Amino acid sequence: RAPEPATMVIFGATGDLAQRKLLPAIFGLWQDGLLGSAFNIVGVGRQELTDEQFKDFAINALKTSKETDAIKEGSLEKFRELLYYEGGDFSGDDIYRRVGEELDRAEEAHGGRKNALFYLSVPPSLFEPISNGLGRLGLNDQSEGWRRIVIEKPFGRDLQSARQLNDAIHRVWDESQVYRIDHYLGKETVQNLMAIRFGNAIFEPLWNRGYVDHVQITAAEDLGLEGRAGYYEEAGVVRDMLQNHLMQLFALTAMEAPPAFDADAIRDEKVKVLRAVRPIPEDRVKDVAVRGQYGAGTMDGEKVVGYREEPNVSPDSITPTYVALKLEVDNWRWQGVPFFLRTGKRLPKKVTEIAVVFKRPPLGIFPGGLERNVLAFRIQPDEGMSLKFSSKMPGQEMVLREVVMDFRYDAFGAQLESPYSRLLLDAMLGDATLFPREDEVDRAWQIVSGILEAWDLMPNKKHQKAPDFPNYAAGTWGPAAADELIGPDRRWRRL
Ligand code: BG6
Repeated sequence: RAPEPATMVIFGATGDLAQRKLLPAIFGLWQDGLLGSAFNIVGVGRQELTDEQFKDFAINALKTSKETDAIKEGSLEKFRELLYYEGGDFSGDDIYRRVGEELDRAEEAHGGRKNALFYLSVPPSLFEPISNGLGRLGLNDQSEGWRRIVIEKPFGRDLQSARQLNDAIHRVWDESQVYRIDHYLGKETVQNLMAIRFGNAIFEPLWNRGYVDHVQITAAEDLGLEGRAGYYEEAGVVRDMLQNHLMQLFALTAMEAPPAFDADAIRDEKVKVLRAVRPIPEDRVKDVAVRGQYGAGTMDGEKVVGYREEPNVSPDSITPTYVALKLEVDNWRWQGVPFFLRTGKRLPKKVTEIAVVFKRPPLGIFPGGLERNVLAFRIQPDEGMSLKFSSKMPGQEMVLREVVMDFRYDAFGAQLESPYSRLLLDAMLGDATLFPREDEVDRAWQIVSGILEAWDLMPNKKHQKAPDFPNYAAGTWGPAAADELIGPDRRWRRL
């Protein structure tokens, strides 16, 4: 798999994401020979930099990022030659004209067609102006080579703005040219979820209401705000994690088997199951969702401040940093099987897991508890999969205890790729399988819309009922109400 000669144009090339994730991922792919020999990067930004200054910036980013692969002798010098820069104002035409000239130059240098991937690593308010600018100058036109646009989340801030954004993008691009990045889909173990489900015969027969009691999807983070108050105060956990990453994990867990492993087959199935989620209108939110915001607490023995004390956060902020949600799925496979999703910041540790919890055995013929078997996919860290079941303990008595059978990804002995390198390469190859399609994003917004309403998180809405925040201490597993949501006969996994 090697892409055709192409230019990657990164808007926001000196931003945080480019520096920490994109440049290291691109460099890693290039160094491994996966981007072919005829490849260029054009950095674009509002800052006026010379090519040399941008080259210095990029090389320095590679040297300092923790994500950069081991650098082979001489590689940085060669990579440096692939980099160019254009600076200017995104609202005028000039900058897009110069980007077009860069594509002409790349074609002259390498031959081949003028293939280009435009990566928008910019604040959402710039998605539309940049997309329009590229359109005005005809850079969306595929007659001289393929043209694709990659957009980073957030894709809108609610259903309405997401639709507006989609309409604006579609005025310039065909959906087949649009690649929306959800980096969770690039994670090796998220892809493995599909491999395990649909590459084996033993799991799928059990994967339904006949055998499954409930499913738990957890994305816990120990980190707090990390200086992102400006963004997070507006986003909060519902927009930052639930609408995208958690909904994607849910869809992959709950969807039907696609007829083929290709972009539309998989995305069709994801949309189908998202459509089957029972709607959560505003007045039902209190029954199925719990919100939280962290207060001061202790992480790894160190005191940390509460969310409202973080720099640039309003002291009476109602932005949630934790959410737990019960999803019900109205289809034949899942009727009556709740999916419990939870995610939050400043929880005790970083761990992402999908756990399928099976029904209890129908009859207890042994003394002791009748435990539920659990099949757990550990997305990160310690990537792997485990099956928990009951076994007899050695000895004269017939006493059962839960044991765990464990598969760890490091058994493969390979280092896991960064999600960005997988997704960037797929976008260069024109494979959209791991990119959410327009209708998925729309559905996911529909699911969380009522929550945004009920929790007063819609723009310009006055607070009606201020929540009792903070309601969990940093370093704990979230508000007590989350236990009630899943209980009384079930409990959150201890991770
Ligand atoms: C991002 C969110 O999309 O995902 C961050 O904006 C969050 O707030 C991050 O920390 C989590 O990603 P990962 O790959 O570290 O689990």
